[in-house]
Amino acid sequence: MILVTGANGQLGQCFRQLADQNPNVYFYFAGSSELDISNKRMVRKFFDQHPVSWCINCAAYTAVDQAQKEPAVARKINISGVKNLAEACSPQGIPLIHFSTDYVYHTKQNTPFKEDDPVSPKGIYARTKRSGERAALLANPNTMVIRTSWVYSEFAHNFVKTMLRLGRERSNLNVVYDQIGTPTYAPDLAAAVLDIIRKAETEAVPPYLLAGIWHYSNEGVTSWYDFAKAIFEIKNIPCAVQPIESKAYPTPAMRPHFSLMDKSKIRTAFGLQIPHWRESLLRCLEKLD
Ligand SMILES: NC(=O)c1ccc[n+]([C@@H]2O[C@H](COP(=O)([O-])OP(=O)(O)OC[C@H]3O[C@@H](n4cnc5c(N)ncnc54)[C@H](OP(=O)(O)O)[C@@H]3O)[C@@H](O)[C@H]2O)c1
Repeated sequence: MILVTGANGQLGQCFRQLADQNPNVYFYFAGSSELDISNKRMVRKFFDQHPVSWCINCAAYTAVDQAQKEPAVARKINISGVKNLAEACSPQGIPLIHFSTDYVYHTKQNTPFKEDDPVSPKGIYARTKRSGERAALLANPNTMVIRTSWVYSEFAHNFVKTMLRLGRERSNLNVVYDQIGTPTYAPDLAAAVLDIIRKAETEAVPPYLLAGIWHYSNEGVTSWYDFAKAIFEIKNIPCAVQPIESKAYPTPAMRPHFSLMDKSKIRTAFGLQIPHWRESLLRCLEKLD
């Protein structure tokens, strides 16, 4: 059984959708009330009572700015919670697939990041995510950490849905143009993960070969400004977008200016066909119709 934790969040809901499309795969979806990952006893009990063969952790504290005000809560979920899962997986050799963020790359580098490039997370969210990666890799050698970026979908709150709402309410919008990265359509990420699990099982890939850090986002590169422009162009929304610098839009937690990730490792290892961000945006906007 493939356990999906944090199953009611954005990525969790994409796995639910994937499960509907793949009725032959045995998924088990656990939301935070059924399985609170920060509750060690609850996690242990769950693993004792269920035949988990893969664990996909979609549970996380993701309120990037709010985290500055409640670091203890962010740590409890993003570090201790992840460690609890990894410790529950480890004795049975269960592979843990865990998600992290491009925000760990808050350095001056301006070429696409490789998985072993130095990291320098700034702010509570980014630091707790980095510590969570470490805790998971340490507690369970069969941990696959997938760093992803700018995640959106037809589910939950995200940039695309916010832009659609604001674009229809306003005639003008300021959007930052000095943060460069790549959007990730969450259903593409979920499908890639299922692909990896299938390949690992059919080709009998030993779990330790999955271990370590990996990157996944869509292909291509953009800024939040260009991303907003693309959304409005595709949807014919007559909202003018002005490019502004990040310093004109201060937030409690700083975001990296450049977080482009090199995906050649995951692409090559699993033969993934990763769609360009604009193709995936089109698919998402069609679904949102
Ligand atoms: N969204 C992005 O742009 C982005 C970018 C890079 C990386 N990521 C990473 O991608 C992953 C998925 O993100 P997402 O966008 O799907 O986040 P999300 O929509 O905020 O979902 C997170 C889920 O985690 C659950 N959760 C929180 N605390 C929990 C706990 N103690 N036990 C169990 N579940 C708990 C939440 O449930 P409740 O609502 O019930 O609390 C929520 O359903 C995260 O690891 C995130 O850090 C996201």
